[in-house]
Amino acid sequence: MTTPIAPPATIGMLGGGQLGRYALMAARTMGYRTIVLEPDPHAPAGSIADLHLVADYDDAEALRRLGDESEVVTTEFENPPAAALDALRRRTSVAPAPEAVAVAQDRIAEKRFLVDAGLPVAPFAVVDDADADPSVGYPAILKTARLGYDGKGQRLVADASEMRAAWRTLGSVPCVLERALQLQTELSVVVARSATGGFAAYPVAENTHVDGILDLSIVPARVGRRLSDRAVGLAMTIADALAYVGVLAVEFFVVDGDVVVNELAPRPHNSGHWTLDVAQTNQFEQQIRAICGLALGDTSMTRPAAAMVNLLGDLWDAGEPDWASALDGGQTALHLYGKRAARPGRKMGHVTAWGALPEEAEVRALQARQALTRRG
Ligand SMILES: Nc1ncnc2c1ncn2[C@@H]1O[C@H](COP(=O)(O)OP(=O)(O)O)[C@@H](O)[C@H]1O
Ligand SMILES: [Mg+2]
Repeated sequence: MTTPIAPPATIGMLGGGQLGRYALMAARTMGYRTIVLEPDPHAPAGSIADLHLVADYDDAEALRRLGDESEVVTTEFENPPAAALDALRRRTSVAPAPEAVAVAQDRIAEKRFLVDAGLPVAPFAVVDDADADPSVGYPAILKTARLGYDGKGQRLVADASEMRAAWRTLGSVPCVLERALQLQTELSVVVARSATGGFAAYPVAENTHVDGILDLSIVPARVGRRLSDRAVGLAMTIADALAYVGVLAVEFFVVDGDVVVNELAPRPHNSGHWTLDVAQTNQFEQQIRAICGLALGDTSMTRPAAAMVNLLGDLWDAGEPDWASALDGGQTALHLYGKRAARPGRKMGHVTAWGALPEEAEVRALQARQALTRRG
C-alpha cells in the first residue's frame, strides 16, 4: 500500500462490539464513511456506523457488499471466521492480514509462532487426545486452542487425571496445557505498525484480572524501565515477524523478574482503553491510521498516570448504577458501550481516572466504581 486511504473513503468493520464502536467513532471523526457487518441489530458499533449490515459473519451477500464498498476492512473481535476474511480479501484489502489473525486465533499456532520466533513462553504442551500425559508440571491450566476469551474455555487442573477430565468437559477439542505460573503481575503492550513499517508503542500497562477477566489497568506499569523496555522490544519483534499492519496487543506475565509472552490480540485491546482519555492519540484512531497507511500518531500520555477499571454486568445487580457519582471530582471519564442486557461478566463499560501518580489514578478509578453502587 503506497497511496494512503484518505477520507471520505469507506472503512469496513467485521464485528460490532465496543472495540468496533470506538474504531468507527475514530474513523468518523476523521471524515471516513463506515460500514459494520454484525448480526446483533443492537450491537455497540451498529449505531455508530453509517451502514449496519445485520447479517451473520459468514453471510456471502453481506460479505460481498462489505468488501465491495470498503477501501479497507478490519476486524474487532477474537474469532472472525477465516472463510469470511478470505472472502473479503478477494474484494478489498484486509488489515491486519488474515494470516496474522489466524495465528492469534489459535493458541497452538500462536505458541508455535512464538517459540519459532525465539520468544519466551510458559512451559506448555498440546493436548488433543484422551490419554495425553504431558510433562509441563502441575498445577496447570488447560485452555481450548480456539474460541476462548475473558478466561472462558479454561480449567485449572492439579494433576493428569484432572486434566483429562477437564479436557472432556471442554468438549474434547484441541487444547494447550500451560504450567500455572506464580505471577508477580501482568503487563500488556499496545503497538501499532503501519503498512510502511512505521512503528509506535504506548506506555506499558500493568493489569489485574479477576476470574480471567481484565479488571484494572494501570499506566505506566510500575515494573521498572528494564522490564518495560523488554516488553516493548518483544512486542515490536512480534509485530515485525507477523509483518503486521494495524494495532496489536501483546499480553505478558511477569515471572521471576522477567517477562514471558502470554498471548496476542490482533486489534485494539481493553488494556488500552485509557488512551481514549489520557493519550495524545487513542488506540482506535491509531488503528485507523495504521490500516489506512497514514502516519502514526503520538502515543505519549497527556497526564503522568492513568488507571482504567472495567464495568461488568454484575454492577447492575441492584438496579441501574449511579452514573453521576462516578464523575465526581472531574478527574474520571465514564464510558458505556450501549449494551442492552447487563449479564454477569459482560463488559458494559469502563471508567478511566488520571492523576500525578499511578497509585493516585488507581485509587480514584476504584473509588469511582465503588460509588456507582453505594446507595442512600
Ligand atoms: N499459565 C498461567 N499461569 C497463571 N495465570 C494464568 C495462566 N494463563 C492464564 N492465566 C490467567 O488467566 C488470564 C486469562 O488467560 P488468557 O490466556 O490471557 O486467556 P483469555 O484469552 O481468556 O484472555 C490471564 O490474564 C491470567 O490472569
Ligand atoms: Mg488474555
